[in-house]
Amino acid sequence: MALAIESLRGIAQSIVPSKDLIGAFLTLNICACIIVLIAQKWNASSKPSRSSTPDLEKPASRSGREKVTRTFGEWTPSGFKRPMAQPYPDWDVHTSKPIPYRPFRYGPKYFVTMGLRSMKFDEWIELDNHYLKYHADKAKRLTERGDKCYGTAPEAMDGAIELLEELCDYLPERYPTMFQKTTTGITNKVTQETFNITQRPLPEDPMATAARLIQDDLAIMIEKPDGEYYLLAGAILLAGFWRLRDKFGMPLSEIHTSGDVPQYKEKLEKGMKNFFRRLKPEEPVVRNNYFIQVDDQLAWSPSIGSEDAEEVSWNTAEKNRAIEHHFFRSERQSLRRLPRSGAVVFTIRTYFEPITEIVKQDYVPGRLASAVRSWGDDVSRYKGKEKYQDVLLEYLDRKHDEQVAAGLKVDQEGEARSYPY
Ligand SMILES: *[C@@H]1O[C@H](CO)[C@@H](O)[C@H](O)[C@H]1NC(C)=O
Repeated sequence: MALAIESLRGIAQSIVPSKDLIGAFLTLNICACIIVLIAQKWNASSKPSRSSTPDLEKPASRSGREKVTRTFGEWTPSGFKRPMAQPYPDWDVHTSKPIPYRPFRYGPKYFVTMGLRSMKFDEWIELDNHYLKYHADKAKRLTERGDKCYGTAPEAMDGAIELLEELCDYLPERYPTMFQKTTTGITNKVTQETFNITQRPLPEDPMATAARLIQDDLAIMIEKPDGEYYLLAGAILLAGFWRLRDKFGMPLSEIHTSGDVPQYKEKLEKGMKNFFRRLKPEEPVVRNNYFIQVDDQLAWSPSIGSEDAEEVSWNTAEKNRAIEHHFFRSERQSLRRLPRSGAVVFTIRTYFEPITEIVKQDYVPGRLASAVRSWGDDVSRYKGKEKYQDVLLEYLDRKHDEQVAAGLKVDQEGEARSYPY
């Protein structure tokens, strides 16, 4: 059986409805960690585990364990240097299509897990031919919503600047046709923007500037002397279901308890803390998630309420909208610790497509229907299933039947394509 993976933020987002966003997102993340551990143990006893999914929660060595004993809140610059990135093969801002992640698994069982996989440094940031749309949307959001959607607390300033510097190094290596490193920062040769990151004070918040360079949303967690990780910097511009200001400044534990994440205290809190403390600069990780949205808005899903409402919830969403209004929202999240500041950086890249498009791909309608049916009550609530299950499942079943009638070999999907597909 395969580990079911779910979302950090997918769930968080579905939780959104309960107004919990980032929190939920982080929460589930971590909870997911724990569940992964359990599931992997279980898996190991039944089937060979996937070699691509090592146990990322355990320290690789004794020395890894010892490092955890350092004084909380203090980070000794590790001296680690990321290997230089290779250019993305044949990348072109006008022709390189988004990677079609389909990170859902067959039922009947569904596990909420963190679903972490090791990440190659080269693959830290993914850009494609939707770049210019994302870039324009972000600029508009930064102007219209201002510091409701981005910000950097003083304790996170060094980390935010290190993130910006790292992007100025990485992007020209990986996407040389678009970015050029300069003595004071970076130039985007396509949009004609130049950023001087040596100016002090910086002309704008470093998280806002970082967000302008890439398609991802960004968040930074910082360890304080109490040993907790706090959300102290972010640029959350296209997240659909959650708002930075709801969780800004909160520690992981509060983010989660305030979001009523099931079993957080009993089952998740400790593992989550350990995961953050053990994360090393040289071992970045990535995960994927997905959820369904019943409107076509990338930046903010109005179905769950106005972005300025006190509370937002799936309760307000219209039920059983036509299938044309169903969208597949999927995130690719990376998690790195920056070596100088010790800041933990999340990148959250959203991929957004109509359901009516993704069903054209072999096996997708059948597998997605199976996955949606495997959600337990809690996950279903988080993901708003009640609002769209009738229309969606009827449609997916019909599309699956059409694929079978057209000759789809149901038993040959196999392991040829593995998660996240
Ligand atoms: C960048 O900022 C620094 C510090 O303010 C300044 O000395 C330098 O002239 C600026 N460079 C450019 C190219 O604007």
